[in-house]
Amino acid sequence: LHCFSKGEDGFLYCEGVRVQDVMEAVEWSPFYLYSKDQITRNFEAYKEALQGSRSVVGYAIKANNNLKILEHLKDLGCGAVLVSGNELRLALRAGFDPARCIFNGNGKLLDDLVLAAEKGVFVNVDSEFDLENIVTAARVVGKRVPVLLRINPDVDPQVHPYVATGNKTSKFGIRNEKLQWFLDAVKTHSSEINLVGVHCHLGSTITKVDIFRDAAILMVNFIDQIRAQGFQVEYLNIGGGLGIDYHHTGAVLPTPMDLINTVRELVLSRDLTLIIEPGRSLIANTCCLVNRVTGVKTNGTKNFIVIDGSMAELIRPSLYGAYQHIELVSPPLADAKVSTYDVVGPVCESADFLGKDRELPTPAKGAGLVVHDAGAYCMSMASTYNLKMRPPEYWVDKGSVVKIRHGETLEDFVKLFDGL
Ligand code: LLP
Repeated sequence: LHCFSKGEDGFLYCEGVRVQDVMEAVEWSPFYLYSKDQITRNFEAYKEALQGSRSVVGYAIKANNNLKILEHLKDLGCGAVLVSGNELRLALRAGFDPARCIFNGNGKLLDDLVLAAEKGVFVNVDSEFDLENIVTAARVVGKRVPVLLRINPDVDPQVHPYVATGNKTSKFGIRNEKLQWFLDAVKTHSSEINLVGVHCHLGSTITKVDIFRDAAILMVNFIDQIRAQGFQVEYLNIGGGLGIDYHHTGAVLPTPMDLINTVRELVLSRDLTLIIEPGRSLIANTCCLVNRVTGVKTNGTKNFIVIDGSMAELIRPSLYGAYQHIELVSPPLADAKVSTYDVVGPVCESADFLGKDRELPTPAKGAGLVVHDAGAYCMSMASTYNLKMRPPEYWVDKGSVVKIRHGETLEDFVKLFDGL
């Protein structure tokens, strides 16, 4: 069951609500439209997969930091994975239990580490200097910080290089051969830091679960080595990264259950608590960016559908050449012919496209057009380039459309210059 589907009348629906009706009711375009129930279902899929095992699902807030969404995930029992001090502050504000929060990152700042230490969140050690800062933070607040070592298992996730992170020349984590140095450092600072586990994150958009298994095998070997030196490590954090069906081809992709099943025995064999850090697989498919068609034009052999949304609201196609499925929200006019279009925005960049070479019926001016799977890394990566203001967000909650974030206005922007 998926939240966005075509009805028998040819209109696109979100949980029983006609997207065309939402467009007419809201005062703004483009906007993001989510299904609250789909978020719940996505989380339940992880919960079901992890049933009966000791585990923490830490939602990677960077994927989507809408406060209402964070509160909803927290209410469902989710933890949070943070990569900046502000993400940590927002997670605390949303009410996440600090004991289910993990602070990640290769450039964590001392002030933010102090806050993390104070609140008792897990901190991943990323480098020598990071360890030094964590020790300093522990001393500042007078508390022992629970840490995991982020190790690069050097497993190729077979994804776009910009979203691969666990290879040996990555800027993240520590190299295997430095493990002993870190263990010695942890021993030296045993009154400031408490080594409770290991972490890895291979990359994002991964569609083969064997990759997680390969990494988990290496990681439990590290755990064996670490335990052999007397450390009581309890947590294996295998990161996030599970991909989704962006192409809408109906291809059978691994589910959270498939992912957990590939590592379950390994985790049990070492009596570990599993931490998993999904972002995309929790939130991507719960949302569409809803746009209006400004017009259609042709240059030479190229046909363009120009919409009001752009790379400012949704940068993944421009940045990674990512494919996100595009469709019209209402049935085409009877005489509309299907052509191959680039779907582009109004931003002054040739890189401003949402989709290339898409077969679509020629839309009328003002028609609605959605970019699917826009829940992850879309709004959270939006900018105000060309003074396109960040759009409002709505979700469908039990058949009602509810605003969950205001759109930004030019007044909000101008306020930043007040009193200067
Ligand atoms: N844990 C760590 C340490 C991460 O770096 C990430 C994502 C996650 C968890 C969550 O990964 P996910 O389950 O969402 O794949 N902007 C890119 C994706 C960047 C991912 C960064 N790290 C995109 O739009 O595809």
